[in-house]
Amino acid sequence: MRLFPRPLPSHVQAAVETGVDAAQIAQSPIEERNSPARRFYAGRNLARARTIEDLRAMAHRRLPAFALEYLEGGAEDEATLARNLSAYARYRLLPKALVDVSHRDQSVALFERSMPLPFAIAPTGLNGLFWRKADVLLARAAAEAGIPFIQSSMSNDPIEDVAAVPDLRHWWQLYVFGEPSIREALIARAERAQCEALVLTIDAQFYGDREWEQRRFAHPGRLTLASILECALHPQWAATTLSGGMPSFANLVDLLPKAHRRFFDGAFWIRAHMDHRLDWKEAARLRKLWPRRFLIKGLLDPADAEKAAAIGADGVILSNHGGRQLDWTVSGLDVLPDVRRRIGNRLTVIVDGGVRRGTDILKAFALGADAVLVGRAPLYGLSAGGRKGVTRAIDILRDEIDLDLGLLGARSINELGPQFLAR
Ligand SMILES: Cc1cc2nc3c(=O)[nH]c(=O)nc-3n(C[C@H](O)[C@H](O)[C@H](O)COP(=O)(O)O)c2cc1C
Repeated sequence: MRLFPRPLPSHVQAAVETGVDAAQIAQSPIEERNSPARRFYAGRNLARARTIEDLRAMAHRRLPAFALEYLEGGAEDEATLARNLSAYARYRLLPKALVDVSHRDQSVALFERSMPLPFAIAPTGLNGLFWRKADVLLARAAAEAGIPFIQSSMSNDPIEDVAAVPDLRHWWQLYVFGEPSIREALIARAERAQCEALVLTIDAQFYGDREWEQRRFAHPGRLTLASILECALHPQWAATTLSGGMPSFANLVDLLPKAHRRFFDGAFWIRAHMDHRLDWKEAARLRKLWPRRFLIKGLLDPADAEKAAAIGADGVILSNHGGRQLDWTVSGLDVLPDVRRRIGNRLTVIVDGGVRRGTDILKAFALGADAVLVGRAPLYGLSAGGRKGVTRAIDILRDEIDLDLGLLGARSINELGPQFLAR
């Protein structure tokens, strides 16, 4: 149900449509009255994108509907997706008066290495659907900004190509599927590529039901005729994305049975062979196989964060996979204060889901995060304008954080705590 005639910021739209937390959502009085008429920028000039929401509007214009559904969609009723976007609205900022904020510092230390910005790029699979060589482009933009890029198991560029990006903090995200020899081979390859950290994703052993994405397909692996025709209406996307052919799962193909190495066959084989037995014992074994930093991504229960610490993990990423897996879960932000209380400083605690604004990031730090991951935000930039679009997304967040710190009366991210928040 669309209550408002014009596009709303996505967090407002999501909340309105699902009824989740609608009362707490920040709806601008001007938007509500529908005057003056407003529109996000959806042209081609990246410099004119003021916000992540503008990059999103640009991405919506450039991508065909099936790719857009893959990027945007959540599972089932998308209540988890809406929760990610609205969780931030539960908190209000409490600025401090008359603080000298002539110098503002948004650098943080992550695993004892300083980084100039408090966020990193989340692992996302199938980036090749948005732009050719997308993983390398995301990695270059991340390296230039001095932030980690987490490369997905389902990425489309070889891990070695990403590792070759100068000055990159390169992390590898592991999905556990097939025989143990496959995960071991992937871990060994990430080690050879000198990845700084291994991120074990544990919330996708079953593939979440993204129904809207599936409605674009007549049957598995075959787009509907309408979707195919719609692709033809996006020649720019085709030119910048498919000019080198269909993307492939560059890091997995050699590990798949020969009959299942084509794109859709491979994806379905992996989906069918996700290891449903994956448990704490196996996670502990994988921890031991990996010599460097080890994180578990996809936890939400504070008790599970304790278990992660007990098997020797270095960090946890509180996440519901961008609302793409189990519907009706809490968001990472919801559980962050509890996790921090229980874990103290035993683990590095990272949170993701729904980050679109500098203020979102400040709130996460005030609630105890050590870092934040952004998933869709850089992908909107990528889809809007390739490598430069990713940099634009990073720049927007950097500028917002800098301004927001100043307005909040906080000199640095490290100063943030509950004293800056009100419910
Ligand atoms: C298009 C897309 C693909 C994703 N693929 C993966 C993946 O391969 N591995 C993984 O651990 N998480 C994956 N995620 C989840 C992200 O790592 C992250 O948790 C999520 O995007 C954060 O929410 P946000 O998009 O609202 O920032 C994906 C998310 C999106 C949007």
